[in-house]
Amino acid sequence: MKSLKELQTVPMLKYSLLDDKRMGVLYKCLSETLHLEGAVYECGVFFGGTALLLATALEGRKTLRLFDSFEGLPEAPPEDNHHKKGDFSQTSFAHVAQLMGEQTNFSIHKGWLPDSLEGLEETVSFVHLDVDLYKSYHDCLDNIYPRLTEGGYHCL
Ligand SMILES: C[S@@+](CC[C@H](N)C(=O)[O-])C[C@H]1O[C@@H](n2cnc3c(N)ncnc32)[C@H](O)[C@@H]1O
Repeated sequence: MKSLKELQTVPMLKYSLLDDKRMGVLYKCLSETLHLEGAVYECGVFFGGTALLLATALEGRKTLRLFDSFEGLPEAPPEDNHHKKGDFSQTSFAHVAQLMGEQTNFSIHKGWLPDSLEGLEETVSFVHLDVDLYKSYHDCLDNIYPRLTEGGYHCL
């Protein structure tokens, strides 16, 4: 696996809401699960910065699946948080596909969670959940947690 220093030459910070410290935590958690069986998921892609970190670190050695509406957040009850429907919509499937460039062994699943998880039954060793709404987190956990490999991480 590439070192974090090597990865920082990739322009992932420019396309992420995470700062370099949080990127570092994500990278460390992922690296601790590489020996486990299972795919790697990211729910909540937006501009693709953290997706690019995961893909660059994995170097195609594990299946990486990326999930987002690419239409921003769904409607949520007012008590959910301070975001509103459509926040984070200023991105697209095409932008993320282009950003991923020559990365291999990944797929981008455009659609609403948890519907876009339907039909997937594989085990999962690492999940980055970055979906901002309580309901979206809950729905993703309901679907993915039962498929998490023993010792795997859900990174929220
Ligand atoms: C904070 S952004 C993700 C940030 C990104 N990981 C980064 O590196 O900056 C949250 C994303 O979750 C997506 N999202 C939240 N709830 C969703 C749902 N129910 N279905 C599909 N996408 C959802 C939004 O479209 C948005 O792009």
